[in-house]
Amino acid sequence: MAIKALVFDAYGTLYDVQTVSAVTDKAFPGYGDYITQVWRMKQLEYTWLRTMMGDYQDFWTITRDALAYTLKTIGLEADQKHFDQIAEAYNNLEPYPDAKEALTALKGYRLAILSNGNPGMLNALTRNSGLDKYLEACISVDSMKAFKPDPRAYEPVHKQMGLAPDEVLFVSSNGFDVSGAKRFGFRVARIERVTPVALNEEIRSSTVIGPKTMFKATRMQIEGIGHGPDFVVSSLRQLPEVLATLTKSAA
Ligand code: LAC
Repeated sequence: MAIKALVFDAYGTLYDVQTVSAVTDKAFPGYGDYITQVWRMKQLEYTWLRTMMGDYQDFWTITRDALAYTLKTIGLEADQKHFDQIAEAYNNLEPYPDAKEALTALKGYRLAILSNGNPGMLNALTRNSGLDKYLEACISVDSMKAFKPDPRAYEPVHKQMGLAPDEVLFVSSNGFDVSGAKRFGFRVARIERVTPVALNEEIRSSTVIGPKTMFKATRMQIEGIGHGPDFVVSSLRQLPEVLATLTKSAA
């Protein structure tokens, strides 16, 4: 089947979760990087734990719970207003520098987001960054009450866009999401924001492994659980080349 749509993961793929550090740094000087990394790690862990426990809470609740957990590990507290302001950073993430250009170059294909984010978060994120103009749909896993990589989380693409899995090129930088999407039946392009060689070099040349390096090592590589991507690219700008390859192989 020919590819009709590109469906993007949001956090870490179109949007740089590291950009919350502008807020966390200001809120707790000296701890910004630690908070940014542990917050994101726990946010993802809570999606997996809640899905496995059959105790779904939406991604906004999870994002706030993960932030509260993180601050507790340092013994820091924020009053309600300050806490809300920090959490709000997830609705104001910066898109990666290649996002707008890539979405523009993909005009002609149906373009959408499929994300763990709940509809309110995704609407705020795409509106605040101006990416809403390029996207036909912002699809949330929320209606399924299951987070990626649970197979149920990928079903809304068919339900809301009428697309069969093999008509979709799914794009993600998150290793667990790549495996989940591939196992579901999508064609998958992985955006490799940190190459294995760069990571090896970073770890070998560090005397102390900091939180950001730990994040890169545990969350920004291809997972060792099979269901690897069909394509690996270093930038969203390379997606037209991926599509050309797919078209050629289908002909
Ligand atoms: C998302 C998570 C995987 O956007 O980052 O769904």
